[in-house]
Amino acid sequence: MKSKEELYEKYIKPSLSDARRRSNKDTEYTYFSLNPTTKTIGKGKYYYIETYGCQGNEADSETMAGILEAIGFKKASKIEESDIIILNTCAIRENAENRAWGELGRLKSFKRNNPDLIIGFAGCMPQEEKTIKRLLEKYPHIDIVFGTHNIDKLPIYVEEAMFNKERVIEVYSKEGGIVDRLPKSRNHQYKAWVNIMFGCDEFCTYCIVPYTRGKERSRKKEDIIEEVKKLVNDGYQEITLLGQNVNAYGKDIKNSDYTFGDLLNDLAKTKIPRIRFTTSHPHDLDQKTMDAIQNNDNVMPFFHLPVQSGSNTILKKMNRHYTREEYIDVVKRLKEAVPGISITTDIIVGFPNESEEDFQDTLSLVDECQFEGAFTFIFSPREGTPAATFDDSINPMIKKERLRILNKKINDLYLKGNKRFVNEIVLVLVDGPSKNDETILSGYTEHNKLVNFKGDAKMIGKIVEVRIVEARTWFLIGEQIEKN
Ligand code: 5AD
Ligand code: SF4
Repeated sequence: MKSKEELYEKYIKPSLSDARRRSNKDTEYTYFSLNPTTKTIGKGKYYYIETYGCQGNEADSETMAGILEAIGFKKASKIEESDIIILNTCAIRENAENRAWGELGRLKSFKRNNPDLIIGFAGCMPQEEKTIKRLLEKYPHIDIVFGTHNIDKLPIYVEEAMFNKERVIEVYSKEGGIVDRLPKSRNHQYKAWVNIMFGCDEFCTYCIVPYTRGKERSRKKEDIIEEVKKLVNDGYQEITLLGQNVNAYGKDIKNSDYTFGDLLNDLAKTKIPRIRFTTSHPHDLDQKTMDAIQNNDNVMPFFHLPVQSGSNTILKKMNRHYTREEYIDVVKRLKEAVPGISITTDIIVGFPNESEEDFQDTLSLVDECQFEGAFTFIFSPREGTPAATFDDSINPMIKKERLRILNKKINDLYLKGNKRFVNEIVLVLVDGPSKNDETILSGYTEHNKLVNFKGDAKMIGKIVEVRIVEARTWFLIGEQIEKN
């Protein structure tokens, strides 16, 4: 019988310290292809994918789904009916990890009832050594473990688990090149995620992403434009360009000065009705990008620009590469370049040793910038990142209280941002019936405001004019405009 150490040695497993290193080698680009013998291995079988975390993970899950469908699997309508279940996990904060561990525990009974069930564990968590150790010690019912850099190898892993009954754990610390033209099974019929780059080189001191997603690599512009043209042909109304820091697009491609603003201009020419993007880093945001939003009607007047803190001391400790004053200036320029633009942000409270004064600086920055929404978090130490080792003497209750005060302010601004559209006619891309009321349609405006209104189901998937009659904190209430 093998010891735990021997077992652990058998697999290809990650190392966060290797993941930290950056090479200056050019990115290698290849296209996905399937071995003809794997094309039917999933015939008659069903898959189910559970996704945790950011839009990047949602897009990865669509790729996993596309690959599974390409090898014959069909999407299960219920988790109980599936032959393969994949958890696509997130490592950004502790509570995201705890949710995935909880779910993994629940799946034990599924495996007991159906020993042929294949369970996969994927995404950012497997990129951490501690996850692999815990999986090996406590979760023998997991069949396949892979990370963010080898989704394209899913057919091989499924084949091994199905036919050789071998447990597969294969996680690369280093990113490798870009495998493009991966199949996708998109969750939405008229809104699509489009990855434009992978990885992050910012190394904010609290963040695990540069370790779990590797070096910044941009897709070739030709591949992105081709994907968007196809989406236009397929009737898609909206794309959201994805990257950890989209404003750094193209900067890793040597001998090229083609950057994010150029990409926006080129994608606008495809005539896709709506272009959005996320996420941005303030210090890479340039004038060309602001001009591209202003000059192209189909680039939406909405910007998510994470600030993280309003205190220069904390920003420095976070390694954010900008000051409070510089951030406020970027927001001012953005508002001048694109009048009426809606700006949202991300904020972390309770960073190690954040003082009351630091926190007050965050509150006053929120006032100055007049954000129309924010994702707010309490700092969560991530093993392997510098901030996890910083001294912290702030009481957790104080952190909670700061979050409450901040959220109150953000909610007031959310409502204020919504109120400016009352009595206006806005354009809404209609998603479908609202969650709570079948007779009500809901969708998003150009400024990314949620609108509920009574309308005809025929409008779903279309961009329609709606008159706003009332503003609530989280949504607007509208009236359908009759067209003759
Ligand atoms: N603790 C709390 N929030 C974090 N974020 C990233 N890392 C952490 C962490 N360790 C937040 C940042 C980022 C968003 C996606 O998640 O605000 O912008
Ligand atoms: Fe994390 Fe900072 Fe990169 Fe965003 S920019 S993914 S917060 S390291």
